[in-house]
Amino acid sequence: MKQGFIALILAAGQGTRFKSDKIKVLHSILGKPMLQLVVEAVQKLKPEKTCVVVGHQKNEVMSALSSSKVSFVHQRKQLGTAHAVLAAKNVLKKDSKKDLLVLHGDSPLITAATLRPLLSQHIRQGNSLTFMSAELENPSGFGRLIRSEDNTIRIIEEKDATPAQRKLKEINAGIYVFKVKDLFQALPKISNLNRKGEYYLTDAVEILAKQKRKIGIHKTSRAEEVVGVNSRLELAWVAEILRGKKIKELTERGVTVYDPQTTWIELDVQIGMDTIIHSSVIIEGSSKIGNSCQLYPFVHLINSRVGNRVKIFSSTMIEESRIEDDSKVGPFAHLRPKTVIKEGSKVGNFVEMKNTVFGPRSKAGHLTYLGDCEVEEKVNVGAGTITCNYDGRKKHKTHIEAEAFIGSGTELVAPVRVGKKAYIGAGSTITKNVKPEALAVERGKQTEKPRWTRGLKKK
Ligand code: UD1
Ligand code: CA
Repeated sequence: MKQGFIALILAAGQGTRFKSDKIKVLHSILGKPMLQLVVEAVQKLKPEKTCVVVGHQKNEVMSALSSSKVSFVHQRKQLGTAHAVLAAKNVLKKDSKKDLLVLHGDSPLITAATLRPLLSQHIRQGNSLTFMSAELENPSGFGRLIRSEDNTIRIIEEKDATPAQRKLKEINAGIYVFKVKDLFQALPKISNLNRKGEYYLTDAVEILAKQKRKIGIHKTSRAEEVVGVNSRLELAWVAEILRGKKIKELTERGVTVYDPQTTWIELDVQIGMDTIIHSSVIIEGSSKIGNSCQLYPFVHLINSRVGNRVKIFSSTMIEESRIEDDSKVGPFAHLRPKTVIKEGSKVGNFVEMKNTVFGPRSKAGHLTYLGDCEVEEKVNVGAGTITCNYDGRKKHKTHIEAEAFIGSGTELVAPVRVGKKAYIGAGSTITKNVKPEALAVERGKQTEKPRWTRGLKKK
């Protein structure tokens, strides 16, 4: 925008229709609180500053936005949308000549592309107020636009509307650009004599119209973006729209998604070209996946990094971990936080790792737990190997040097170190360090009683 503007987002209401202990605007959609989605859309337009009106659960709202460049104003009691804007009066004292973009924290589908023409129309026409309307097939719940023949305009809330007015399909999107000065002279004139007993920001339209101020209506063609999320069902609908959009975006960048209907990929996830996502895959948070990978059904990734040409087989869960190039993980593996699978390694069926560096080119094929462990290159970890990393009070480290061979059914009681190329006999409980190239066996001697079963009584 050529001329600077300030953005004000209303987010003080609890959202009672949501039936939640958590304030509505903090409910997440594809990994992000809906309020944050609004903030991100607005900030793409580069406002001079973004201000958020907080009230209910203000500390939670403020901390949810702590990484965004926004300031906050406090609305102590939630007496309506006009009252919420009034709470920003002091912080806007010096900005009386500027424009103020006002929108709601519960409209998470709004995009910069839809807001931009509203702002330009406002500036082009030199309006006192320009607000967004939309034509909706089902307008219920929204304020309706009443355009009278004498050119006065007003917005009537659904609860206050007559049956005939309710049939009107042009709605108030709840997105306005005001000249700051005109807005604050109109606000004190708003009363709360309506069905909800609230101070409605929408009444500013009629007040300014009566004062013969210039009012513009920007009827958007993107009506689907103006939904206000007022219920959990609407939350699900909105998530569904954003989910589809995200998948479309990824496919356009060369990602194959076999079954978009069952795939859940959150908004900040990045995926490289030629990677294939099978059905029923969930990828959350800030996960980043490289090129030419395959994620098989029921893989669940949370805040994790995956290199190139990695295969993650079915029903594998990966949390806050990293998998390097050309590795294979799963099926039925669980990588818990702070695990790094180095390049070319293999982690197989029913293997769990936590806070472990594994590989490069090492293998743990079956039924293994490695916790707080450092495994160097080309190590072979046999089936049923367990690091005993916890003594009931403290966690201890296990270190396995390069090319060591850990026989099946080994218990490694930490802290312990297995030297380079050492060999551990199957079924050993290793409590002392093993020297490089040594064979360590810790096992009771096998005894045998000949023909012993013959003596057993037959039933
Ligand atoms: C509002 C509009 C309606 C419009 C619709 C679009 C009014 C009176 N009505 O209705 O015309 O069609 O949005 O979605 O403005 N809030 C505060 N403080 C308050 C009250 C509300 O910060 O005292 C915030 C809420 O947190 C919410 C936003 O303002 O984010 C809108 O409030 P809400 O009660 O959802 O308004 P609607 O009934 O949807
Ligand atoms: Ca709303």
